[in-house]
This record gives sequence, C-alpha cells and structure tokens, in this order.
Amino acid sequence: MGNILITGASRGIGEATARVLAAKGHNVCINYHTQKDLAHQLVVDLTQQGVKAIAVQADVSQEQQVVDLFNTMDEQLGPLTGLVNNAGILLPQMLVEQMDAQRINQLLSTNVTSYFLCCKEAVKRMALKHGGQGGAIVNVSSAAARLGSAFEYVDYAASKGAIDTLTRGLSLEVAREAIRVNCVRPGFIDTDMHTDGGEPNRIERIKPTIPMGRGGQPVEVANAVAWLLSAEASYVTGSFIEVAGGR
Ligand SMILES: NC(=O)c1ccc[n+]([C@@H]2O[C@H](COP(=O)([O-])OP(=O)(O)OC[C@H]3O[C@@H](n4cnc5c(N)ncnc54)[C@H](OP(=O)(O)O)[C@@H]3O)[C@@H](O)[C@H]2O)c1
Repeated sequence: MGNILITGASRGIGEATARVLAAKGHNVCINYHTQKDLAHQLVVDLTQQGVKAIAVQADVSQEQQVVDLFNTMDEQLGPLTGLVNNAGILLPQMLVEQMDAQRINQLLSTNVTSYFLCCKEAVKRMALKHGGQGGAIVNVSSAAARLGSAFEYVDYAASKGAIDTLTRGLSLEVAREAIRVNCVRPGFIDTDMHTDGGEPNRIERIKPTIPMGRGGQPVEVANAVAWLLSAEASYVTGSFIEVAGGR
C-alpha cells in the first residue's frame, strides 16, 4: 500500500479523503493549517485502524513550509506514492469591482501557488529521472472553474481554472516519468467552506438548480479521488472527474 500526503486534511473533503484512503490500507500524512486538534484526532482514529498516520502543520502557500512538510513525510512515513492537493480557501462573497490586490493575492497564493509547490516536491520524489518509482497526483479543483461564480467569488473560480490548467500541463510533463496527474471538480459539497464564504446555507439556496436536487457529501468526492489514485486508474492521466450532481 502507498504513502499519501493530503493537504488541508483536518476537515471537509481532505478529512474524508484521508479516511477513505486509510480504509483502503494506505498510510497518510495529514497536513493542516490551523486545526491542530482535529488533525491529531484524525491521526488517532486512523492509527486505530492499523495504518500509519501523521499530522503535520504547514501553510502550503509558503515554499519553505512545503519543503519541510515533504521532508517530515519522508522521515516519518516513507517514500511518497501519492499527493492529494486539496487545501483551499474561499473569501467573503463580493463583486470583482470590489476586490483589492491583497485579497486576490491571498486567494491565489493559497489555492494556486500551494498546488504548484506541492506538485514540485512530489515530482522531485516520484519521477523516474530523479530515482523515484512513479506515483499519482490528484488536484481538487471545482465546478466553479467552469461556472465562473459570478456575483459570489470570481477570484476563487479563477484560481480553480488555474488548477485545471496545471493538471493538464503537468500531466504531459511527467507522463513518461510514471506519474499520473488528474483532477476532481466537486460541485456544492457540505463543508465549512461555505461559512467562510459568508453564506452557511448556500447549498440550501442553490439546491433547486442542481440536477440531482441535493448537495454532495465529502466522502462522495473522496471516493473519486481514491479511484484516481488507485491502480484501477492506471491509464488515466490529464483527466477530470466532475463530482457535482450533474451541474
Ligand atoms: N465544499 C465545496 O463545496 C467545494 C466545492 C468545490 C471544490 N472544493 C474544494 O475542495 C477543497 C477542500 O474544500 P473543503 O470544502 O473541504 O474546505 P474546508 O472544509 O474549508 O477545509 C479547508 C481545508 O484547507 C486547509 N487549509 C486552508 N488554508 C490552508 C493553508 N494555507 N495551508 C494548509 N492548509 C490550509 C484547512 O486547514 P485548517 O482547518 O487546519 O485551517 C482545511 O483542512 C478546496 O480546494 C476547495 O476549493 C470545495
């Protein structure tokens, strides 16, 4: 079984992904930013299931912290076989005409720079040309990349557009290095993120416009991530799975 690093795994989709991967027998490195207690409780839960799990604090928008995160993973868990780039933020809803550079840069550094930095560290460890054994990367994007999030947070939607392009470009760069790079685009998933965006009941409001008539659960995204990481997806790279109830 593998050693998989999941960014932003203290709660929400990242936590669900850690639980699904651990249930399949993988060792997991749970990165968190502020929620130390949640991350450490998750480690206790997963360790009881018989896998190795560690929690490592790092702000993944900061290059040195990402380097330290991956080094800690090397030392405490073993060689990296998979990366789930999941950590992300949503800032309060506003029009593009109201956004300032501080907000835009904060959002882009957390949602985009972090994914590049983590991909870089993963490729340095997994690429055949660097002595690695190959592996898989899954980027968590969003249906917002397609939909645009007008009147809510176009900056967030644009950050996810960048992740789609990173996925496609990197998948081509490392296809001959035995590394697969894929992406999931969740729709409206029941997590704390909507509260951060200023509208805790956002899914209730949007529900009637979702073809399946409901929001999604974090585990429904986690299952798609786990499949993309697995050997069952061995010929899948540069691909996108929509997990958005048909939206
Ligand atoms: N929920 C949705 O409807 C939805 C839809 C489409 C896409 N997504 C995407 O799915 C991913 C997970 O979202 P979620 O809904 O599960 O969000 P969430 O419940 O708000 O959790 C966000 C996670 O990201 C971590 N994080 C935030 N900033 C970080 C940083 N600078 N460094 C390291 N970790 C950081 C948080 O860590 P702490 O808790 O430790 O602070 C937390 O674990 C995001 O990329 C999001 O854009 C979500």
